[in-house]
Amino acid sequence: MALRHFLQFSDFSTEEHEWIFRRAAAIKRKFKNYEKYHPLADRTLAMIFEKASTRTRVSFEAGMYQMGGSVVHLTTGDSQLGRAEPIEDSAKVISRMVDLVMIRTYGQDKIERFAEHSRVPVINGLTNEFHPCQILADIFTYIEQRGSIRGRVVAWVGDGNNMANTWLQAAELLGFTVHVSTPTGYEVDQDIAGIRSSESYKVFKDPMEACRGADLVTTDVWTSMGFEAENEERRKAFADWCVDAEMMRVAKPDALFMHCLPAHRGEEVEAEVIDGPQSVVWDEAENRMHVQKALMEFLLLGKVAE
Ligand code: CP
Ligand code: NVA
Repeated sequence: MALRHFLQFSDFSTEEHEWIFRRAAAIKRKFKNYEKYHPLADRTLAMIFEKASTRTRVSFEAGMYQMGGSVVHLTTGDSQLGRAEPIEDSAKVISRMVDLVMIRTYGQDKIERFAEHSRVPVINGLTNEFHPCQILADIFTYIEQRGSIRGRVVAWVGDGNNMANTWLQAAELLGFTVHVSTPTGYEVDQDIAGIRSSESYKVFKDPMEACRGADLVTTDVWTSMGFEAENEERRKAFADWCVDAEMMRVAKPDALFMHCLPAHRGEEVEAEVIDGPQSVVWDEAENRMHVQKALMEFLLLGKVAE
């Protein structure tokens, strides 16, 4: 099988994403029915974390065990990665011993360099630029709740960050529109997002206008990991970019609310929204595991017989 990586959402075609969503549904059904499914027996996943994580670690680790495999967990602090061993050397060594690597790190260039020297598939578990596994889970959750996302409107309220960039890539591939509203100075950048045109997104100054008529309203922390030094400045700049009941009211009556978590109630979202009836954040978090199981199956076994 040709070596494939999942470093950004656009590494897979539209049709491959549709395949992952279908497999995620089938794999989730098996899990819910306590049906044993061990296609990755004797396979090992290395997980490298240079930033903190709860969901990404638990979902990959539990998912890999459920598929019969095992995991090795590395952090900067407890490996030679934190003592300046070159990424290229680390990639060559680690990928001779495991079957799959998941990395959470800072610059996208780091994960690309690792992948270039890896003998096995590499998965992006979040970089400064992208968070493709999260968007897989978000779109899978949308499909479960409302059907196809094609033609729908997703309102992004907040920072033009890794999540926003990945939403833009997904919109271009899967045929929906993103209404983006960010404070001045925190806009999305088409080049960083790696999209071909501006056709699949619209920029709004006023977050309320971005939410008007949306099928899904979503946001993220004001300060992402690695940007903590800007915290105070960002708190001021983002004060009007808090998803509240008013924003949900101008969205479609059946609009969903999503947040990749962790959330800060009273900052990017009001408690009544994230804990309210339109919020699907707990399904969204759980679905990380189901989509990533489908992703690992695809990267290691290709399109298995259904
Ligand atoms: N959403 C997400 O990636 O969560 P963690 O940072 O807890 O992994
Ligand atoms: N944008 C956030 C997502 C956390 C899951 C960050 O990068 O910290």
